[in-house]
Amino acid sequence: MKKLLIWGAGDQGTVTLNCAIAMNEYEQIDFLDFKEKGHREIPGFIIYEEGKEDIYQIFKKYDEVIVATGDNNLREKKVLQLIEMNIQLATIIHPTAIISPYAKISLGCTILAYTAININACIGMGCIVNTGAIIEHDCIIKNFVNICPAVAMAGHVIIGNKTFLGIGSTIIDDVTIGENVTIGAGATVIANIPDNSVAVGVPAEVIKKKKNKTS
Ligand SMILES: CC(C)(COP(=O)(O)OP(=O)(O)OC[C@H]1O[C@@H](n2cnc3c(N)ncnc32)[C@H](O)[C@@H]1OP(=O)(O)O)[C@@H](O)C(=O)NCCC(=O)NCCS
Repeated sequence: MKKLLIWGAGDQGTVTLNCAIAMNEYEQIDFLDFKEKGHREIPGFIIYEEGKEDIYQIFKKYDEVIVATGDNNLREKKVLQLIEMNIQLATIIHPTAIISPYAKISLGCTILAYTAININACIGMGCIVNTGAIIEHDCIIKNFVNICPAVAMAGHVIIGNKTFLGIGSTIIDDVTIGENVTIGAGATVIANIPDNSVAVGVPAEVIKKKKNKTS
């Protein structure tokens, strides 16, 4: 049994906790977060206060660390910080997820309950695949992507770095969605979407461009 530190004690942190408990691989699970963020207490679990102690010394008490923040830019920053510090990243996968033995899941991912990831799909570093999402065969999900609950993605879809797919969105086969894109809740994507766009609707259309790669 291992010890897990969840970096982030907000909504994504508690969802990650639920998943990590279900895995039954961790004898101890604790959190690290800023207190001033006003996060809730999580009874029975330690929340170390970020900014108060040397985080490297906290990380060293654990076998693995998972970054649990829905913000793709922040998650990227923290995962890269952990790699720089040579801290072991966790990969959290709920036991009800159905993942092909021929799919690849990279380090630092959180794969929640009742997801399906089919043959030859490839999930990059630090991605979140939320409850009930379907990633079909041969999809390529690049790094730090956030896939909301009930997203359905047909085969051979490519999703660029740090893209956000809103709840219940659907993407037909062979489509490429660029980097730093936001797809609105319930959208149906039937054509490629360029980098740094926000697209909504059925069929999805770009309604605005983001100023830069971090907006
Ligand atoms: C797409 C989204 C990010 C846009 O947010 P925003 O940039 O604040 O945009 P606005 O709310 O100002 O909306 C801009 C326009 O798009 C429309 N719009 C926004 N979201 C839409 C959606 N999901 N589907 C269809 N139209 C949408 C608005 O009605 C508005 O139209 P108008 O200009 O004709 O009035 C947001 O609405 C959304 O869908 N977020 C996904 C949330 C989600 O999935 N959460 C799950 C967390 S697990």
